[in-house]
Amino acid sequence: MRISDLELEESGAIRQVAQLLVDGFSHFNPHPWPTLSLATDEVEESLKPDRISLVAMSKDDRPVGWIGGIRHYDGNVWELHPLVVAEAFRKKGIGTSLVRTLEKRVADQGGLTLYLGSDDVNGATTAGGANLYPDPIKHLAGIRVIGYHPLEFYRKLGFVVTGVVPDANGLGRPDILMAKRVRRIT
Ligand SMILES: CC(C)(COP(=O)(O)OP(=O)(O)OC[C@H]1O[C@@H](n2cnc3c(N)ncnc32)[C@H](O)[C@@H]1OP(=O)(O)O)[C@@H](O)C(=O)NCCC(=O)NCCS
Repeated sequence: MRISDLELEESGAIRQVAQLLVDGFSHFNPHPWPTLSLATDEVEESLKPDRISLVAMSKDDRPVGWIGGIRHYDGNVWELHPLVVAEAFRKKGIGTSLVRTLEKRVADQGGLTLYLGSDDVNGATTAGGANLYPDPIKHLAGIRVIGYHPLEFYRKLGFVVTGVVPDANGLGRPDILMAKRVRRIT
Protein backbone atom coordinates (compact mmCIF):
# COMPACT_ATOMS: atom_id res chain seq x y z
CA MET A 1 0.00 0.00 0.00
CA ARG A 2 1.28 3.47 -0.83
CA ILE A 3 -0.16 6.91 -0.17
CA SER A 4 0.08 9.68 -2.73
CA ASP A 5 -1.56 12.96 -3.69
CA LEU A 6 -4.68 12.57 -5.79
CA GLU A 7 -4.20 14.58 -8.98
CA LEU A 8 -6.76 16.37 -11.18
CA GLU A 9 -5.74 14.48 -14.32
CA GLU A 10 -6.30 11.07 -12.69
CA SER A 11 -9.94 10.90 -13.76
CA GLY A 12 -10.10 7.11 -13.35
CA ALA A 13 -8.78 7.28 -9.79
CA ILE A 14 -11.16 10.18 -9.01
CA ARG A 15 -14.11 8.02 -10.07
CA GLN A 16 -12.87 5.07 -8.02
CA VAL A 17 -12.37 7.29 -4.96
CA ALA A 18 -15.90 8.65 -5.45
CA GLN A 19 -17.17 5.06 -5.48
CA LEU A 20 -15.35 4.48 -2.16
CA LEU A 21 -17.42 7.33 -0.69
CA VAL A 22 -20.70 5.97 -2.03
CA ASP A 23 -19.93 2.45 -0.71
CA GLY A 24 -18.15 3.46 2.52
CA PHE A 25 -20.94 5.67 3.88
CA SER A 26 -23.85 3.41 2.98
CA HIS A 27 -24.54 2.90 6.72
CA PHE A 28 -25.27 6.65 7.04
CA ASN A 29 -28.88 7.79 6.87
CA PRO A 30 -29.20 10.10 5.06
CA HIS A 31 -26.24 9.14 2.91
CA PRO A 32 -23.94 12.16 2.52
CA TRP A 33 -23.08 11.17 -1.09
CA PRO A 34 -25.95 9.01 -2.36
CA THR A 35 -24.86 9.14 -6.02
CA LEU A 36 -21.57 8.72 -7.83
CA SER A 37 -22.06 12.17 -9.33
CA LEU A 38 -22.36 13.87 -5.90
CA ALA A 39 -19.39 11.89 -4.61
CA THR A 40 -17.34 12.88 -7.66
CA ASP A 41 -18.14 16.56 -6.96
CA GLU A 42 -16.82 16.09 -3.40
CA VAL A 43 -13.61 14.46 -4.62
CA GLU A 44 -13.08 17.19 -7.24
CA GLU A 45 -13.58 19.85 -4.52
CA SER A 46 -10.67 18.28 -2.64
CA LEU A 47 -8.33 19.11 -5.52
CA LYS A 48 -8.79 22.86 -5.13
CA PRO A 49 -6.19 25.20 -3.56
CA ASP A 50 -6.01 25.17 0.27
CA ARG A 51 -6.86 21.49 0.23
CA ILE A 52 -4.95 18.25 0.74
CA SER A 53 -6.20 15.10 -0.98
CA LEU A 54 -4.40 11.82 -0.31
CA VAL A 55 -5.22 8.43 -1.73
CA ALA A 56 -4.09 5.00 -0.50
CA MET A 57 -3.32 2.68 -3.41
CA SER A 58 -3.33 -1.12 -3.15
CA LYS A 59 -0.46 -3.25 -4.44
CA ASP A 60 -2.34 -3.65 -7.72
CA ASP A 61 -2.71 0.15 -7.97
CA ARG A 62 -6.36 0.55 -7.01
CA PRO A 63 -7.58 3.31 -4.64
CA VAL A 64 -8.56 1.62 -1.35
CA GLY A 65 -8.68 4.64 0.93
CA TRP A 66 -8.93 8.40 0.76
CA ILE A 67 -8.55 11.37 3.10
CA GLY A 68 -9.06 15.08 2.57
CA GLY A 69 -7.83 18.14 4.45
CA ILE A 70 -9.30 21.66 4.32
CA ARG A 71 -7.36 24.76 5.43
CA HIS A 72 -9.09 27.10 7.90
CA TYR A 73 -8.07 29.87 10.34
CA ASP A 74 -5.16 31.20 8.23
CA GLY A 75 -3.71 27.69 8.11
CA ASN A 76 -3.50 27.27 11.91
CA VAL A 77 -6.30 24.75 11.81
CA TRP A 78 -7.13 22.16 9.17
CA GLU A 79 -10.26 20.07 8.93
CA LEU A 80 -10.01 16.35 8.24
CA HIS A 81 -12.79 15.72 5.70
CA PRO A 82 -13.61 13.10 4.61
CA LEU A 83 -11.93 9.76 5.42
CA VAL A 84 -12.89 6.40 3.99
CA VAL A 85 -11.28 2.98 3.60
CA ALA A 86 -12.80 0.27 1.38
CA GLU A 87 -14.59 -2.27 3.55
CA ALA A 88 -12.43 -5.22 2.42
CA PHE A 89 -9.30 -3.31 3.42
CA ARG A 90 -10.37 -2.10 6.89
CA LYS A 91 -8.58 -2.96 10.16
CA LYS A 92 -5.25 -3.24 8.33
CA GLY A 93 -3.86 0.14 9.39
CA ILE A 94 -4.75 2.03 6.20
CA GLY A 95 -6.99 4.57 7.99
CA THR A 96 -4.21 5.15 10.51
CA SER A 97 -1.62 5.68 7.76
CA LEU A 98 -3.88 8.14 5.95
CA VAL A 99 -4.50 10.19 9.11
CA ARG A 100 -0.80 10.15 10.07
CA THR A 101 0.22 11.26 6.58
CA LEU A 102 -2.34 14.10 6.66
CA GLU A 103 -1.11 15.15 10.12
CA LYS A 104 2.45 15.38 8.82
CA ARG A 105 1.41 17.32 5.74
CA VAL A 106 -0.58 19.79 7.87
CA ALA A 107 2.32 20.22 10.31
CA ASP A 108 4.76 20.71 7.41
CA GLN A 109 2.54 23.56 6.20
CA GLY A 110 2.62 25.22 9.63
CA GLY A 111 -0.73 23.91 10.87
CA LEU A 112 -1.19 23.46 14.61
CA THR A 113 -4.50 21.64 14.87
CA LEU A 114 -6.31 19.00 12.87
CA TYR A 115 -10.01 18.71 13.67
CA LEU A 116 -13.00 16.81 12.38
CA GLY A 117 -16.72 16.52 12.77
CA SER A 118 -18.06 13.01 13.11
CA ASP A 119 -21.83 12.79 12.77
CA ASP A 120 -23.93 10.58 14.97
CA VAL A 121 -27.07 10.07 12.90
CA ASN A 122 -28.36 6.86 14.47
CA GLY A 123 -27.66 6.89 18.19
CA ALA A 124 -24.26 5.26 17.75
CA THR A 125 -22.90 7.19 20.74
CA THR A 126 -24.40 8.27 24.03
CA ALA A 127 -24.62 11.82 22.61
CA GLY A 128 -27.01 10.64 19.88
CA GLY A 129 -30.72 10.58 20.48
CA ALA A 130 -30.29 12.80 23.53
CA ASN A 131 -31.30 16.39 24.21
CA LEU A 132 -27.83 17.86 24.75
CA TYR A 133 -29.19 21.12 26.23
CA PRO A 134 -28.70 22.81 28.62
CA ASP A 135 -25.33 21.20 29.36
CA PRO A 136 -23.77 19.65 26.25
CA ILE A 137 -20.36 19.52 27.91
CA LYS A 138 -21.75 17.12 30.54
CA HIS A 139 -22.88 14.79 27.73
CA LEU A 140 -19.48 14.97 26.07
CA ALA A 141 -17.53 14.32 29.27
CA GLY A 142 -18.85 10.77 29.47
CA ILE A 143 -19.43 10.07 25.79
CA ARG A 144 -19.29 6.38 24.82
CA VAL A 145 -19.80 4.43 21.61
CA ILE A 146 -22.82 2.11 21.66
CA GLY A 147 -23.12 1.33 17.94
CA TYR A 148 -20.91 1.75 14.87
CA HIS A 149 -19.03 5.05 15.17
CA PRO A 150 -15.40 5.98 14.47
CA LEU A 151 -14.93 7.89 17.77
CA GLU A 152 -12.66 5.18 19.23
CA PHE A 153 -10.68 4.98 15.99
CA TYR A 154 -9.86 8.68 16.27
CA ARG A 155 -9.18 8.42 20.02
CA LYS A 156 -6.58 5.75 19.30
CA LEU A 157 -4.89 8.26 17.02
CA GLY A 158 -4.76 10.91 19.76
CA PHE A 159 -7.85 12.95 18.91
CA VAL A 160 -9.98 14.20 21.80
CA VAL A 161 -13.59 15.34 21.87
CA THR A 162 -13.59 19.14 21.86
CA GLY A 163 -17.22 19.96 21.20
CA VAL A 164 -20.50 19.15 19.59
CA VAL A 165 -22.99 20.73 17.21
CA PRO A 166 -26.34 19.65 18.65
CA ASP A 167 -29.03 18.59 16.14
CA ALA A 168 -26.62 19.10 13.20
CA ASN A 169 -28.40 16.36 11.24
CA GLY A 170 -31.86 16.77 12.79
CA LEU A 171 -33.19 16.49 16.33
CA GLY A 172 -30.93 14.29 18.47
CA ARG A 173 -28.47 13.74 15.63
CA PRO A 174 -25.35 15.73 16.55
CA ASP A 175 -22.00 16.32 14.92
CA ILE A 176 -19.25 15.42 17.38
CA LEU A 177 -16.13 17.55 17.10
CA MET A 178 -12.68 16.11 17.76
CA ALA A 179 -9.23 17.65 17.46
CA LYS A 180 -5.55 16.94 17.83
CA ARG A 181 -2.46 19.12 18.04
CA VAL A 182 -0.22 18.14 15.16
CA ARG A 183 2.73 20.37 15.94
CA ARG A 184 4.82 19.79 19.03
CA ILE A 185 4.98 22.96 21.14
CA THR A 186 8.39 23.26 22.85
C1 LIG B 1 -13.08 4.63 10.20
C2 LIG B 1 -12.21 3.98 9.12
C3 LIG B 1 -11.63 5.06 8.21
C4 LIG B 1 -11.05 3.22 9.83
O1 LIG B 1 -10.15 2.73 8.84
P1 LIG B 1 -9.27 1.42 9.08
O2 LIG B 1 -8.29 1.33 7.95
O3 LIG B 1 -10.16 0.25 9.30
O4 LIG B 1 -8.54 1.78 10.45
P2 LIG B 1 -7.22 1.13 11.06
O5 LIG B 1 -7.05 -0.25 10.52
O6 LIG B 1 -6.07 2.06 10.87
O7 LIG B 1 -7.61 1.05 12.61
C5 LIG B 1 -6.81 1.59 13.65
C6 LIG B 1 -7.37 1.13 14.97
O8 LIG B 1 -8.71 1.63 15.13
C7 LIG B 1 -9.64 0.55 15.29
N1 LIG B 1 -10.85 0.89 14.57
C8 LIG B 1 -11.02 1.08 13.26
N2 LIG B 1 -12.31 1.41 12.98
C9 LIG B 1 -12.94 1.42 14.18
C10 LIG B 1 -14.28 1.70 14.56
N3 LIG B 1 -15.24 2.04 13.67
N4 LIG B 1 -14.58 1.60 15.87
C11 LIG B 1 -13.65 1.27 16.80
N5 LIG B 1 -12.36 1.01 16.48
C12 LIG B 1 -12.02 1.08 15.19
C13 LIG B 1 -8.92 -0.66 14.67
O9 LIG B 1 -9.41 -1.87 15.21
C14 LIG B 1 -7.49 -0.39 15.08
O10 LIG B 1 -7.30 -0.73 16.44
P3 LIG B 1 -5.92 -1.39 16.97
O11 LIG B 1 -4.85 -0.38 16.64
O12 LIG B 1 -6.14 -1.57 18.42
O13 LIG B 1 -5.77 -2.65 16.19
C15 LIG B 1 -13.02 2.92 8.28
O14 LIG B 1 -13.64 2.02 9.17
C16 LIG B 1 -14.10 3.55 7.39
O15 LIG B 1 -13.82 3.92 6.25
N6 LIG B 1 -15.35 3.64 7.89
C17 LIG B 1 -16.50 4.16 7.11
C18 LIG B 1 -16.40 5.64 6.84
C19 LIG B 1 -16.25 6.45 8.12
O16 LIG B 1 -16.91 6.21 9.12
N7 LIG B 1 -15.33 7.45 8.04
C20 LIG B 1 -15.08 8.37 9.15
C21 LIG B 1 -16.12 9.47 9.14
S1 LIG B 1 -15.73 10.72 10.34
